[in-house]
Amino acid sequence: MKIGILGTGMVGVALGSKLVQVGHDVKMGSRTPNNEKAVTWAKENGAHASYGTFADAAAFGEVVFNCTAGTASLAAVTAAGAANLKGKVLVDVANPLDFSKGMPPTLTVCNTDSLAEQIQRAFPSVNVVKALNTMNCAVMVNPTLVPGDHDVFLCGNDRQAKEKVTEIVKSFGWRSIIDLGDITAARGMEMLLPIWLRLMGHYQSPNFNFKIVR
Ligand SMILES: NC(=O)c1ccc[n+]([C@@H]2O[C@H](COP(=O)([O-])OP(=O)(O)OC[C@H]3O[C@@H](n4cnc5c(N)ncnc54)[C@H](OP(=O)(O)O)[C@@H]3O)[C@@H](O)[C@H]2O)c1
Repeated sequence: MKIGILGTGMVGVALGSKLVQVGHDVKMGSRTPNNEKAVTWAKENGAHASYGTFADAAAFGEVVFNCTAGTASLAAVTAAGAANLKGKVLVDVANPLDFSKGMPPTLTVCNTDSLAEQIQRAFPSVNVVKALNTMNCAVMVNPTLVPGDHDVFLCGNDRQAKEKVTEIVKSFGWRSIIDLGDITAARGMEMLLPIWLRLMGHYQSPNFNFKIVR
């Protein structure tokens, strides 16, 4: 598949590299056409990795991952372009965290709304699927970093879009994928971040994950 990545941070790099490894062609996008991190990433990942602007990555991908800072995601998806994303799956991995007042960060949106819903409302012709935001990016692409069974949550309004994302996360090695329903479930997925951050402080490591026991 052709996949676009919006974002040049550690999440974009981790997902982009894994997607190339499992056989996809990946273009990483940024605000600028020659972002240094994107150039380095493409160099390290061979012929199936390329880079460009957010719009270039969105136009390239059949599926596009939003791996931008949550406070900037609406701007980044706007720059990616509604026309370039029309009818496509946008996997929203971002968390709406505001670090401007120091640690711990606060959520810029919660309870009655979520970043994923804001994106879905702003881009109604895009099939937004929230997924993979509740774990560190190293765990995202390598679930065996955490022993035993543990879970990845996803949600979205379009069943086929969720099936496509399920296939992709299965190719990363995920076995327990919990579909939480429509895009409003992103509220709960994003509101897991305050407890995730506390747990990271407690364990002094990001290599843990949530597991639902029933
Ligand atoms: N770190 C993790 O393990 C982890 C796990 C789960 C979810 N997340 C979420 O994943 C997302 C990415 O995290 P990250 O640490 O890889 O990267 P990040 O530093 O949060 O974001 C980097 C990306 O945001 C873009 N960006 C920043 N300000 C912008 C603006 N004003 N307008 C448009 N774009 C802007 C940057 O564009 P340029 O490329 O142009 O610089 C860059 O591509 C975040 O939402 C984070 O909360 C992170």
